[in-house]
Amino acid sequence: MDEQPAIQDSSTAFALPPIQGHLMFKDVNFAYVPNRPVLKHNSFEALPGQKIGLCGPTGAGKSTLINLITRYYDIDSGDILIDGYSLYDVRKDSLRQQIGIVLQEPFLFSDTVMNNLRYARLDATEKVCIEAAKQANTHEFIERLPNGYDTLLAKRGSNLSQGQGQLLTIARMMVQNPRLVILDEATSNVDTRTEQHIQEALTRLMAGRTSFVIAHRLSTIRDSDQNLVLKSGEIVERGTHDSLMQQQGLYHELYMSQFKGKLAVVTGNVLP
Ligand SMILES: Nc1ncnc2c1ncn2[C@@H]1O[C@H](COP(=O)(O)OP(=O)(O)O)[C@@H](O)[C@H]1O
Ligand SMILES: [Mg+2]
Repeated sequence: MDEQPAIQDSSTAFALPPIQGHLMFKDVNFAYVPNRPVLKHNSFEALPGQKIGLCGPTGAGKSTLINLITRYYDIDSGDILIDGYSLYDVRKDSLRQQIGIVLQEPFLFSDTVMNNLRYARLDATEKVCIEAAKQANTHEFIERLPNGYDTLLAKRGSNLSQGQGQLLTIARMMVQNPRLVILDEATSNVDTRTEQHIQEALTRLMAGRTSFVIAHRLSTIRDSDQNLVLKSGEIVERGTHDSLMQQQGLYHELYMSQFKGKLAVVTGNVLP
């Protein structure tokens, strides 16, 4: 994990009550370095249970936007509200406890598989953890490890494949059971079968929860309630997959370029 600047709670900060998962960005402006804006006038709303896709070119600000929701950085102006509470009025630990994050790199500890699953909810029973592992398509894999759920993982899960590490972090998220989940889709080179297992586990994880998906392949956000297209820190297009395709703008362009790339692989044709 990168070193993050220490964000302080205000002296009057209170614990965020259990949330439903309603998120609002109101004219949010943010810069890492003064006078070099990274996010500009971002406004959007996610209703409880909705799936929101984030896409756009590298450097557009997708990861930055996510880092603002978890309050790793404070904004310069505007407001971010969860269930009507400004993030800046509540204690950040109480905020982060209610958000589940699956990042590209699995975040695992040198501890047993069971303790890794429990990490976000220490009082979770073994039964709950095993059920979560089943939902995340990783129970059979764990059972095949030398000591099953008691197997010690190496630091950062380096004795697992990348795909297995991801499935374990998805299982952990199911144990945590947050109302809001954030997924930075893996661009990893997992095999097709593992990829299917991951997609299936993620679909189960997102069901009934507000979810933000940073999509590198737009095919994974075709079923979103809303997709936001970021370009140079601005939300330049928004809507469902179908409406964005009809607009024939940047989203359409990104989608078609990925689609053509895929066709070229399937047919063996190499594009000029
Ligand atoms: N910690 C940081 N300090 C300064 N600039 C950053 C930092 N992280 C990202 N940036 C810059 O902010 C912009 C948006 O980056 P990022 O949110 O990572 O984009 P994306 O996830 O869409 O690829 C880029 O210009 C990037 O160089
Ligand atoms: Mg990014």
